[in-house]
Amino acid sequence: MKKFTKILAVVILLVIVLSQGCAKKSDSDTNQVKWTIGMSQCNLGEPWRVQMNADIKNAANEYEDIKVVFKDAQNDTLKQRSQMEEFISAGVDLIIISPKEAVPLTPVVAQAYQKGIPIIVLDRRVLGDKYTCFIGADNKKIGKATGKWIVEQLGGKGKIVELKGLMTSTPGQDRHSGFREGIKGSGIEIIFEADMKWLEPNARKEMESALARFETIDMVYAHNDPGAHGAYLAALAAGREKDIKFVGIDALPQEGQAYVAQGILAASFEYPTGGKEAIETALEILSGQNVEKEITLDSRCFTK
Ligand code: FRU
Repeated sequence: MKKFTKILAVVILLVIVLSQGCAKKSDSDTNQVKWTIGMSQCNLGEPWRVQMNADIKNAANEYEDIKVVFKDAQNDTLKQRSQMEEFISAGVDLIIISPKEAVPLTPVVAQAYQKGIPIIVLDRRVLGDKYTCFIGADNKKIGKATGKWIVEQLGGKGKIVELKGLMTSTPGQDRHSGFREGIKGSGIEIIFEADMKWLEPNARKEMESALARFETIDMVYAHNDPGAHGAYLAALAAGREKDIKFVGIDALPQEGQAYVAQGILAASFEYPTGGKEAIETALEILSGQNVEKEITLDSRCFTK
């Protein structure tokens, strides 16, 4: 009986050990993962980019055969370049990049493309056409719509401060040129403009200079909501927030839309992250389908 109990114990132990081993193997992600996607994010310092990564993650969670590896370049172009090189030498199956700037990141995107790694450029552009697909909203169109909206709100004339996004990035360039088109022929006057590089603290500082120089400012057009909010904070500190209207771009529910609801911003134009579309497009590419070279996302204007 004693011997039988011993044998039984050994058998039970063996079954436990073996079954655990098997469970681990079949449960492991790597077993199901067919494709690894590298996601190169230029920074995670702004809520909009945190949202983009979350949108990518949520969309990717729907599919068990893909895995996304995220890298954050912390707003450093050289770091983003070397993180891209890491993805290329690791031989990932596809890359998604939201590049900080156009010119310096063009060669590394082309390098991936020429090595046969499909590459989706998201939100900010690179130069040329050596990438698989670009996904983003039309920044020129958004800038133009903002310009027209401002002309209408101010009855055709007024003094404007323009706080620009990083001018070495394409959304900054397009939101600027589109806006100038939108106000063309009106009596709108740009009395102050500065590159706040997409960052709220920079916008606040620039707005402090504008407030010190100009007694009358009718409206601030900032290329993103953090910029518009920074300008508002400067005006608030100077006791002039009620005399000025603030307009931004992004319209995240928890940021721009909330500012509009609170009466801080007069309007915010939506700039979708494209995270979900990037994953859907990545899957089409990986499963051998042809995709459009340009996928343009829509925008909407939020007012109270
Ligand atoms: C975040 C951000 C957004 C802006 C986008 C433009 O880094 O500045 O606020 O809409 O980048 O690329």
